[in-house]
Amino acid sequence: MKKIKVYNPIVEIDGDEMAKIIWKYIKTYFILPYLDINIIYFDLGIENRNITNDQITIDAAYAIKKYNVGIKCATITPDEDRMREFHLKKMWKSPNGTIRNIVNGTIFREPIIVKNIPRLISNWTNPICIARHAYADQYEAIDFMVKEKGILYISFIPDDKNKKNQSIKFKIHHFTDPGIAMGMYNTDKSIYGFARSCFNYSVYKKWPLFLSTKNTILKAYDGNFKKIFQNVYENEFKSKFEKLQITYEHRLIDDMIAKTIKSNGKFIWACKNYDGDVLSDCIAQGFGSLGMMTSILLTPDGKTLESEAIHGTITRHYRLHQNGKETSTNPIASIFSWTRGLRHRAILDKNLDLKSFSENMEKACIDFIESGKMTKDLFQLSKQNEEKNNYLNTKTFLKELKIFFDKKINKRNT
Ligand SMILES: NC(=O)c1ccc[n+]([C@@H]2O[C@H](COP(=O)([O-])OP(=O)(O)OC[C@H]3O[C@@H](n4cnc5c(N)ncnc54)[C@H](O)[C@@H]3O)[C@@H](O)[C@H]2O)c1
Repeated sequence: MKKIKVYNPIVEIDGDEMAKIIWKYIKTYFILPYLDINIIYFDLGIENRNITNDQITIDAAYAIKKYNVGIKCATITPDEDRMREFHLKKMWKSPNGTIRNIVNGTIFREPIIVKNIPRLISNWTNPICIARHAYADQYEAIDFMVKEKGILYISFIPDDKNKKNQSIKFKIHHFTDPGIAMGMYNTDKSIYGFARSCFNYSVYKKWPLFLSTKNTILKAYDGNFKKIFQNVYENEFKSKFEKLQITYEHRLIDDMIAKTIKSNGKFIWACKNYDGDVLSDCIAQGFGSLGMMTSILLTPDGKTLESEAIHGTITRHYRLHQNGKETSTNPIASIFSWTRGLRHRAILDKNLDLKSFSENMEKACIDFIESGKMTKDLFQLSKQNEEKNNYLNTKTFLKELKIFFDKKINKRNT
């Protein structure tokens, strides 16, 4: 079969441990044989981050910004144990955090649905995509313990000395007993960016968008999220949404949770930072395995996209692998990180062959699992096979998936 020409480069970011092992198979089996592609490669394995003083992560992030498509394998975020294990010079920051700060964008997490893996909520027949505003709120708040009686104030003092008399000071509470207190913030600029990423992704997926807040209680704070989203919708996206027959709505978070539980999915849910943190894990659990969850970082202008699986480097399986034992690691979310990145390349370059290649690959993965072939994580979720232990190990799953994909492609080409 003639390879499909990919007109512009993609940035590949390699990672660590078991995720790195399946990554190599994916590239060898499913990418290189079919695509004539220029891959700008960055090794973000922990050893290389240590050798380069983490410059490699910064270089990779700027390359994603330059070429607009990044495809990332899971990487170790070091802690004390990892410092010792790899003799690290420093506890290097999370690569995802560094990339997100440089590329700037919103993270969208979405499950891959297969019919024969039951969901905890059976009516979730389509994916639910969570967009988390990963900036400020509780994550940059100041919180502290109040140990004695006293008054808690919050104040704002303008930088402009001529406006000093416009300082604001609110009394929050008069403590007569010990307690706790917190002050937090966000910025219009960040909320506008979040809103634009969400509206752009909604157009991209052709799915409706919901924003959840608690604006009935936090009238100024959450009210501002609601106002900015409405503003961006009316001024920048309303006609596009109407053309695609999709909708945007603000909902109270309690109402949104109730709607989600009853829904069939197929929508994007924009969440404030803390809500997104909690709800994305909740939704991931509801859909099943970590090996079936994808994640995308999309810039506010919708032009730059980085895709990855949400799972980590699967250390537990890697330890088995290091000891020569068999593993059954699910590669599907990692394959989808390639297909989602390639699909974005295809859309930017108007490359229809590449677009159908990535869509066919996704379909082949789903059809393969629906034909009964599974890794252990899926097998355990799938009731149909309860009696027999007939799941596939990592290598067999990948090899059989390749044969399955080749057959599908050849059928299409004859
Ligand atoms: N995006 C990222 O790069 C990312 C995300 C999370 C964790 N991490 C890193 O990964 C390392 C391991 O973290 P962890 O063990 O907490 O999380 P993990 O996601 O790697 O694994 C947690 C557990 O989930 C299951 N699992 C996850 N993915 C699977 C798959 N594809 N197939 C089958 N089972 C799967 C396994 O039981 C595994 O033990 C850590 O060093 C952490 O810093 C990286």
